[in-house]
Formats: sequence, structure tokens, C-alpha cells
Amino acid sequence: MTAEDKSSEIVHASFNEDGSVNQPDGWREWVFVGAPLTPNALNGGEAPFPEFHNVYIEPSAYAAYSATGEFPEGTQIAKELTTVRENNNAENGSSQEVSGVGYFQGEFSGLELTVKDNQRFKDEPGGWAYFSFGHSTPYGKTATAMPTDSCNACHAASADDDFVFTQFYPVLRNAKPK
Ligand code: HEC
Repeated sequence: MTAEDKSSEIVHASFNEDGSVNQPDGWREWVFVGAPLTPNALNGGEAPFPEFHNVYIEPSAYAAYSATGEFPEGTQIAKELTTVRENNNAENGSSQEVSGVGYFQGEFSGLELTVKDNQRFKDEPGGWAYFSFGHSTPYGKTATAMPTDSCNACHAASADDDFVFTQFYPVLRNAKPK
């Protein structure tokens, strides 16, 4: 089966006439693929993407990726940021909790989305457009595509699989057919 064969079954993002995308429905119920962590305290007080990065892929895209090893047209991946839990944090930002000393999730603090759509985003390398719904709650209801240099360029340069940072997502590495 090819990625194209599956594309009609893919749940697509919803866009408005002005080209903005709507906040996705229910991303916290998508398939959770990984949670990179860049504590502010280890990044000069302010990490570029604070702090936990919870990454979810829309389930129909996950199914297609599992079957074909490729991200289908229409793939949506959300990254929701949460702060590190505040609880008498040490200088390195860690806290002492029942399971040990480490980093624990606090509150939601940002939402970003990437969508692969080579028709709609012909000029974006790989067809991947990047959106930010803001870094405070409540998140914006809509978002416009970010300039290529702000987001896509770093993904193009450093992500392992088709602009997606699968090197940090064990769930996707394991789903990919060998
Ligand atoms: C300096 C490099 C860099 C830039 C610039 C960047 N990202 Fe990313 N992005 C990453 C890394 C690394 C990950 C892997 C997860 C993590 O560590 O957050 C990631 C993951 C993501 C993901 C999850 C899907 C995936 O591709 O892995 C989304 C969504 C995302 N970024 C959105 C954005 C948006 C929106 C922008 C622009 C505002 C942006 N990124 C700019 C490095 C970057």
C-alpha cells in the first residue's frame, strides 16, 4: 500500500477562507508519540520551546504511517507545551517528588501544529506548514502559517524522517515498518 492509496482516509485539518487553520479538535486524544523536555533552568532561564513538549499525531495519519512508513498527505502532528511543575524547584529546575528527583509536568503553556499538504502549501519544503496557537492559555482558535525560515528550515535541516523529529519519538520509530 502506498501513502497515496491511504490519503482519502486521512482526517484533514480544517482551514478558513483566509487560509488560517482552526485549532484541531481533541488533539489530546491523538496518538501520543513522545515528550522531549527542555527545562527553562537548563536553557539560560528561557528555553525556545518551554518546557515539556508533548507530541501527538492524528490517528488516521498514524495508521497510514504504520502501514506505509510514510507520512500521508494531510498528516497533522500537534505539539503541546507544558511547564515544569513548580514545587520548591532546585537551581536546575528539578523537584523532589514521590518517585524521585526529576522533572514533572506542570501546566499547559502552548500549542503548535504541523500539517503536510503539498497542494495547499506548494511553496513549503516537503509540503509541511507550521502553526502556533500561542504560548499561553486559552490558545488561539485559529492560526496562520508561520514563515518558512521560522519553523520549516530547522525541521528540514535536523529532523530524521520527512521533517518530523522521529529521533525523539520511540512510538513512531517502532510503528514504522522495517
Ligand atoms: C531550532 C529548530 C526548530 C525550530 C526553529 C522549530 N522547531 Fe519544531 N521541533 C524542533 C524539534 C527538535 C522538535 C522535536 C520535539 C521537540 O524537541 O520539541 C520539533 C517538533 C515540532 C513539532 C512536532 C512534530 C515534529 O515535526 O517533530 C511541531 C508541531 C513543531 N515542532 C512546530 C514548530 C513550529 C510551529 C515552529 C515555528 C514557530 C517550529 N516548530 C520551529 C525543532 C525546531
